[in-house]
Amino acid sequence: MQHFRKPTTEFDDLNFKQRHRRRMSLPMTNRPTMEQESIVEKMERLMASQNVTDVPKTAGLVAKIVSSLDTAAAAAAAELAKTSTVRQKSISPESGNRNKQQQQSTNRSRRDSNASHSSMGSSYTSDEEDSDEDDDIDSISPRFRQPRPINTKKQSDFCVRDIRDAEFGRREIEYAERGMPGIMALRESAKDDQPLKGARVMGCTHINAQTAVLIETLLDLGATVRWSSCNIYSTQDSVAAALAERGVPVFAWARQSEDDFWWCIDQCLTTDSWRPNLILDDGGDATHLMLKKYPASIKLLKGIVEESLTGVHRLYQLSKTGKLLVPAINVNDSVTKTKFDNLYSPRESIIEVLKRTTDTLLGGHIALVCGYGEVGKGCASALKGAGVIVFVTEIDPICAIQAW
Ligand SMILES: NC(=O)c1ccc[n+]([C@@H]2O[C@H](COP(=O)([O-])OP(=O)(O)OC[C@H]3O[C@@H](n4cnc5c(N)ncnc54)[C@H](O)[C@@H]3O)[C@@H](O)[C@H]2O)c1
Repeated sequence: MQHFRKPTTEFDDLNFKQRHRRRMSLPMTNRPTMEQESIVEKMERLMASQNVTDVPKTAGLVAKIVSSLDTAAAAAAAELAKTSTVRQKSISPESGNRNKQQQQSTNRSRRDSNASHSSMGSSYTSDEEDSDEDDDIDSISPRFRQPRPINTKKQSDFCVRDIRDAEFGRREIEYAERGMPGIMALRESAKDDQPLKGARVMGCTHINAQTAVLIETLLDLGATVRWSSCNIYSTQDSVAAALAERGVPVFAWARQSEDDFWWCIDQCLTTDSWRPNLILDDGGDATHLMLKKYPASIKLLKGIVEESLTGVHRLYQLSKTGKLLVPAINVNDSVTKTKFDNLYSPRESIIEVLKRTTDTLLGGHIALVCGYGEVGKGCASALKGAGVIVFVTEIDPICAIQAW
């Protein structure tokens, strides 16, 4: 689940805020309505058609005029004035034309992507605020960027959206560590014994700050890892950058294409000098690619850990046809997964996801929850708490009674 976190006051750093603003949602009150957005667009179009060169000044003027009509629209105009200043500073005439065709298609796909998966997930000022370098970063898939970016240790065995985001990502990881005292205690107590020495873990999971804490724990306990994302949308780019900066071979970025997705997994499955002996999978994609593309490497595997029910279903199918040649652990067999993660995580995320995607008040809406297992219980309870009228379907009589 992608969490667009805003810095807390603790991380209240202007530079970071500015650079990361396009990845963070604005508070509800500052978010422009469709009408305000179109005002900004209209002003931009007008200024372009009139060949207005001093955009900030003109937009400032327009802001003043509009303020007498509508304070919210004025805020949007003022925002344009501010962001245009940033843009004017950073875009030279030559760079404006660079990769124009590619940029157009990428901006189109970014818009499509934003529209399809989150209407509020990215700031409405994102296009305006991009610096020249950011334009490049967004227009070329990280996998095709030349020269290959390097971290401060001059390593290039990674592929992330923007290695410059590493410092912010490191702060996010440190913040997550504070909320994960169990794994941090394990890290501390087992560090000297190096119990994972010799483990070569290929990970394919959501990459967020909490996963980074897990990855760094594996490293501290002696494992070597290569990591990709199990989802084309959910990578926290700054966190991936922080891992890359530390030297972790991580191949992931948010809003990647299907081709990029499979390419990233492939980069983690095999290199000239490294083959995994463990796969930590979420959804079964890494396992699937390994079986399909590198069947000979299967015998190097000591085991597979599968995080999701979907992935486990795929493993059962392989097992039935005799193609599952290595032991596999179903994480959902662990009570701490089913009774905690399955219940509490969707309970936390369901409301946020619905709000981000529908941008509407939930109270009074009618929701149908299909299945009253752990996930269904969590979702139903959160929806009820938000004032939604909840219906449940269930085929198991016990679970059905629990829903009563
Ligand atoms: N655990 C997580 O964090 C998480 C996150 C996202 C999605 N999911 C997905 O949510 C789904 C449910 O997960 P869970 O952990 O609650 O599983 P579960 O097995 O605990 O619950 C599933 C429930 O659905 C009921 N059911 C099955 N078929 C049904 C049907 N046709 N009509 C109505 N009810 C039916 C079952 O009786 C059962 O009670 C899975 O597909 C899982 O992959 C889980």
